[in-house]
Order: sequence, then structure tokens, then C-alpha cells
Amino acid sequence: MKKFNITIAGGGSTFTPGIILMLLDHLEDFPIGTIKLYDNDKERQQTIADACEILLNERAPGVKLQASTDPKTAFENVDFVMAHIRVGKYAMREQDEKIPLKHGVVGQETCGPGGLSYGMRSITGVLEIVDYMEKYSPQAWMLNYSNPAAIVAEATRKLRPNSRILNICDMPIGIEELMATNIGLKSRKEMVVKYYGLNHFGWWTDIRDKSGKDLMPSIIQHVEKFGYSTDTGSDMEQEASWNDTFKKARDVQALDKHTLPNTYLKYYFFPDYVVEHSNKDYTRANEVMAGREKFVFGECQNIIDKGTAEGTELTIDEHASYIVDLARAIAFNTKERMLMIVENKGAISNFEPTAMVEIPCLVGSEGQEPLSVGEIPRFQKSLMEQQVGVEKLTVEAYEEQSYQKLWQALTLSRTVPSASVAKNILDDLIEANKDYWPELK
Ligand code: NAD
Ligand code: G6P
Ligand code: MN
Repeated sequence: MKKFNITIAGGGSTFTPGIILMLLDHLEDFPIGTIKLYDNDKERQQTIADACEILLNERAPGVKLQASTDPKTAFENVDFVMAHIRVGKYAMREQDEKIPLKHGVVGQETCGPGGLSYGMRSITGVLEIVDYMEKYSPQAWMLNYSNPAAIVAEATRKLRPNSRILNICDMPIGIEELMATNIGLKSRKEMVVKYYGLNHFGWWTDIRDKSGKDLMPSIIQHVEKFGYSTDTGSDMEQEASWNDTFKKARDVQALDKHTLPNTYLKYYFFPDYVVEHSNKDYTRANEVMAGREKFVFGECQNIIDKGTAEGTELTIDEHASYIVDLARAIAFNTKERMLMIVENKGAISNFEPTAMVEIPCLVGSEGQEPLSVGEIPRFQKSLMEQQVGVEKLTVEAYEEQSYQKLWQALTLSRTVPSASVAKNILDDLIEANKDYWPELK
């Protein structure tokens, strides 16, 4: 069988060891020749690379690992680029969360002003990686996790229309795992789902088991009582802030009793609640730095110090399984049904054709084939129209370096109460992002 070469862009990411472990777990059905790590922060990436090299030598000595900050070395001769970069790193995530909160507005990585701010930084970094891939490995596919995926996907649709980039999110599969646990299934893979929306802004409309049995009633019954919360203590749930989000899904679901919502809708339906329950001096970025980042880099340093990965607590997660499933679907033309962020083009028949929507697709060697959704109800359609306007205006603002359009985008967001608050937040964000955003005129 052919051995695939893979570049992980954002090699210094906290998710890199999980992806490598997942790739190792699949060597029999997805053989790997070389894994290349690429990052623009040499030192950060080196710690991950050194630890992963020890791990690979022990568990899969046939697989080569190469870490580089040189685009040619990193992108030459590869089949897949798995991208998860965070332009500005956690220091800028902290700003994205704290600046809006200072103005009494939701401070979140991908939703509301924080998402716009992150988007204006990410577009440059993601386009750069697409361009490196096209220059050095034009046949490769880029599988993109880099956030904010909604804005990144719109930017690549518009600015790199012919590139082989597929945009994905792990939130729906994370929630589907919780749903499966809650109704006594072993895995989300026992469910076939219908889902539509925008990224971090969508709804399940139908969930069945493989025999066609409707699972919606039992899942809804659980959500009406407990949200998506389980009592099993999954990794995510062990963190208080995620647990709150899963519980809050109960209130989010109450808005439409026939569907099941993405947890991110809480930021749009209950922004007042979210602000009240936020600590403006200690946000999710602080939690992640003290939690996941410290843990992953600590474990990597342990491996390096001991010279062995034996006994390491680094583990595979759902995030990694999805991107590896996607690579396999393309490599072996499996036509697996997966949720992808794609151009609508009529799949949702009563919605803007050029909107980037998150819907089920069949994935094979030619990429993604969106499945038809049909008409969606007025409530969801109206919410999505407003949010797609926010995302498109942000990309236009980036492209045209337009202050006016970014102000409009912020004003249009459901999370922002007025144009004057939008302007105050925008002026602070411009100052904080001066090393990253295009200059606005
Ligand atoms: P992280 O900060 O640990 O890792 C990101 C890495 O990207 C850093 O090492 C950084 O140096 C590097 N980087 C930044 N700009 C770069 C550039 N221009 N070129 C190359 N490398 C660059 O962050 P993390 O928490 O591990 O998350 C990584 C990314 O994955 C984020 O964008 C996050 O939002 C995203 N993510 C997405 C999903 C999803 O559902 N789509 C799920 C989880 C994480
Ligand atoms: C989910 C979302 C991602 C997001 C992540 C944030 O997985 O789908 O888009 O990046 O949560 O998690 P964190 O632990 O960094 O707050
Ligand atoms: Mn996501």
C-alpha cells in the first residue's frame, strides 16, 4: 500500500501529539511515510517535535518525523496538510476574549467580536499555508481545523476559489459522542445524522441508528433535563466551563423543541447570561494556558527529559479521529458521510448560494459532495442570514482594508448591543491587533 506523507501545519499546537498518536493507531489502514511539522515559532514546535520523535522511534520506527520552519522543506512532497494554526497564539486569544468583556459583550474565541478579531488575523496565516502547499505539493489536500473556521472558510472560498482545502470542525462530533453516551450507544459512529447551519451555529434535525430507528426522541428527552451533560466525566466535561456549556444546551434547545442545537448557539441566544457568568480577568484562554497547554508541553518535556515516552499520559482525542477519518476518506475514496463546511450552492434551497454552510457531505478522492438539505424554517434561516452577513462583511473588510465594513460586521453581530459599543470594541481591537491585522482605512 502507498505510504502517505503528511504536513502538520501549526506543528507547535497542543493538538499535534494527539494527531500523531491517532495516525500511529491507524498505520494498518492508513500507512504513513513521513510526518512533517511546520510552524513559524521554532522553539515552541521543537519541544513537541523532540517528544514526538522519541515516541515515534519507540512505537513506529518506520515513520519519519521532520520539523521545520522552512516552507519548502515542510511542504514539499506531501499528500495532506493538516492545518491547525493559531495566529497570535494564546496571548492574542486572551485579548479577543477580554476586550469585548471589558465593554460588557461576550468574550469568546470564535463567536462575536473575539471571533472577528481572530478571523482578521487567521486569514493571512491560512492563505499563506494554502499557497505554500500549492507551490510545493500542488496535488495535496489541505484539511483545515484553524479557527475561526466560518471566517477562514469564507476567506478561502473567496480568495482561493480553486484550492484543495476542506474546512472542518470537531464540535458536532464532540456533541454526538455525548449524545451517544447519553442514550447508551458505544460510539457516535452508530448514528446517522442530518444537520445544517453555519460553523458553530447549527442544528441536528434527524438522528437515526443504522437500522433507521429514530433516536431523536430519546436524545431530546435527555437534553430537556440535562442538556448534553453526561455523568461519565469525558475529557471535555472535566473542565467546569465546558460542563456549563453542555448543561446550558438545555435552555438553547428550548427555543426549538424539534431540533438539537450546537452548543455555541448559547453565545447568540443568551449573551447577557454569558457575560454575567464570565470573569473578565480570567477567561477561557487563561484556563487553556493553565490546563491543556501546560499539560501537553509538560508531558513533552517529561518525555524529552526521560528519553522515553513510556507511561506518557498524552492520548488520542476525538479531534484527531475526525481529521484522520477525513484523510482516509480522500485517500481511499470511501465516500464516508461527514459534516463539512462547504459553499451552499443550493443544498439549503432557501438560503444564500454563496454562504459557507456546515452540512453532511460524502467525502471521496475528489473531495466533498454536499448532500441536499432542502428548505429550512424561518427562525433558523433569519438567524443564519444575520450571522452569514457578519462573516462575509469581515472577509470583505479584510480584503478591502475597510474600517467601515468591520464596524458594520460588529454591529450586525447578535452579541453586540449597539453601533456605539461596536465602535468602542473595534477601536480597542485595532490597537491590540496592530502587528497582525491589515491596516484599516
Ligand atoms: P496552539 O497555539 O497551541 O497552536 C497553534 C500553533 O500555530 C502555534 O504553535 C503557533 O506558533 C502556530 N502558528 C501561528 N501562526 C502561524 C503561522 N502563520 N504559520 C505557522 N504556524 C503558526 O493552539 P491550539 O489550541 O492547539 O489550537 C490550534 C488551532 O486549532 C486553533 O486555530 C484552534 O482554534 C483550532 N481548533 C479548531 C477546532 C475546530 O473545531 N475547527 C478544534 C480545536 C482546535
Ligand atoms: C471545540 C470547537 C473548536 C474550538 C475548541 C475550543 O472543539 O469545535 O472550534 O477551537 O472547542 O476549545 P478550547 O479548549 O481551546 O477552549
Ligand atoms: Mn469548531
